[in-house]
Amino acid sequence: MRLTVIGCGYVGLVTGACLAAAGHEVHCTDIDEKRIDMLKAGKVPIYEEHLDEVLKHAVAEKKIFYTADTSEAIRATDVIFICVGTPPKESGEADLSAIDHVAREIATQARGPKLVVEKSTVPALTGIQLQKALSAYSRNGDIKFQVASNPEFLREGTAVGDFFHPDRIVVGVENEKSAAVMREVYAPILERKFHCPVHRGKCPTGNSAELLITTINSAELIKHASNSFLALKISYANVISDLCERIGADVEQVTHAMGLDPRIGTQFLKAGLGFGGFCFPKDIQAFIHLAGTVGVDFEMLRAAEKVNKQRIDRYFEKIHKALWVIRGKRVAVLGLAFKANTDDIRFAPALEVVRRLLDEGAEVLASDPEAISKTKAVFPAVRYHEDPYETLKGADAALVCTEWKLFRELDWERARKLMARRLVIDGRNLYSPKAMQDLGFEYYSFGRP
Ligand code: UGA
Repeated sequence: MRLTVIGCGYVGLVTGACLAAAGHEVHCTDIDEKRIDMLKAGKVPIYEEHLDEVLKHAVAEKKIFYTADTSEAIRATDVIFICVGTPPKESGEADLSAIDHVAREIATQARGPKLVVEKSTVPALTGIQLQKALSAYSRNGDIKFQVASNPEFLREGTAVGDFFHPDRIVVGVENEKSAAVMREVYAPILERKFHCPVHRGKCPTGNSAELLITTINSAELIKHASNSFLALKISYANVISDLCERIGADVEQVTHAMGLDPRIGTQFLKAGLGFGGFCFPKDIQAFIHLAGTVGVDFEMLRAAEKVNKQRIDRYFEKIHKALWVIRGKRVAVLGLAFKANTDDIRFAPALEVVRRLLDEGAEVLASDPEAISKTKAVFPAVRYHEDPYETLKGADAALVCTEWKLFRELDWERARKLMARRLVIDGRNLYSPKAMQDLGFEYYSFGRP
């Protein structure tokens, strides 16, 4: 099939690359000409494991094409994936101006019928507005536009693997004709007819994903309801962690045992600095806002959001207790990205930690395998080293903020000889308290004795 992807950000590139790897011919476009030039030159503008390899392969196989000319991309195919950004406004509401702009472009540039697929994360009822905008701006009343919603459930860092091996594919449509097109789009994924760069011919067997055909409103709601539930789960674990500290229990033991009940599940119960990134914080806000507009009070989500914001306060209580005075102390921050395996620092808890340390007069050194250059632009006053051991030299405290494997496997025996004081305040519960104490560290983490 021939497909168009509008928006070459994270979602657009992963979607375009993986659909090309699944055998479709994909035409990608973006209003950012520099981004298109980069892609044409074979450079990938974001860090995402396996993405460069999938893109390179698709280019070599002549399955992916880039153009800065939106009208050319629109006319090239009959199925258009909208993958543009929907950032939050001050009110928490999603800013849908990029979607509106693209709808107008499609309506005016199309010379034949199109199936327009929302892939960007949008609040429920956006599909109806999109359909209205497509008809309103259509130059030619004879051209029929169909709309579909196809939310993505990709996690940054494992997005390529997630695309090829989804738990479920959700497609919201208006009619059977659109459903049939979307089934064809995803047939190679469901039938596992693609070259998987993650497992290299050794993909896990087991049940294939289910393709769920729903209404457009349901599909839009499924995305927000899923993300918000996961955020709720994390905040729940964090409150349990606070309780564990007060009554002397171990949050790891509690959440592990809870998770063994299949109705609960072990994932997303990790206590610590809380959730960040460009999805959970903004999606939870947009969902609260959407619920408010239709008269539903989503108090529960507001509470989850509040708990998450307080994680940084909880962390600083530990830092103050351990370090006493922060001014003038040399502090090593291990991890800047909002989670491991990404260079994304948007709404990263680590950044808030750095901001407060600087405000309180600390000398901050930081290390991260991928996120240094992005963080440098925000905090030029921090000293950065890719090598965590350089960061730890002479430090009065080490603050672990991201769960990178590199930090999980850090040689603390080596590190303790470099530090001015053997103090580790672990925001991600990466180490065994006993092992750290045996090494002579004063060690603090979340919800553990
Ligand atoms: C999230 C969802 O997991 C994806 O399914 C969804 O498609 C995506 O948002 C999106 O809407 O595009 P992502 O933001 O990449 O994916 O990150 P997650 O792996 O979900 O982690 C989010 C945050 O929660 C991270 O800061 C992580 O450190 C934190 N977290 C996660 C915890 O604090 N505890 C946990 O137990 C799990």
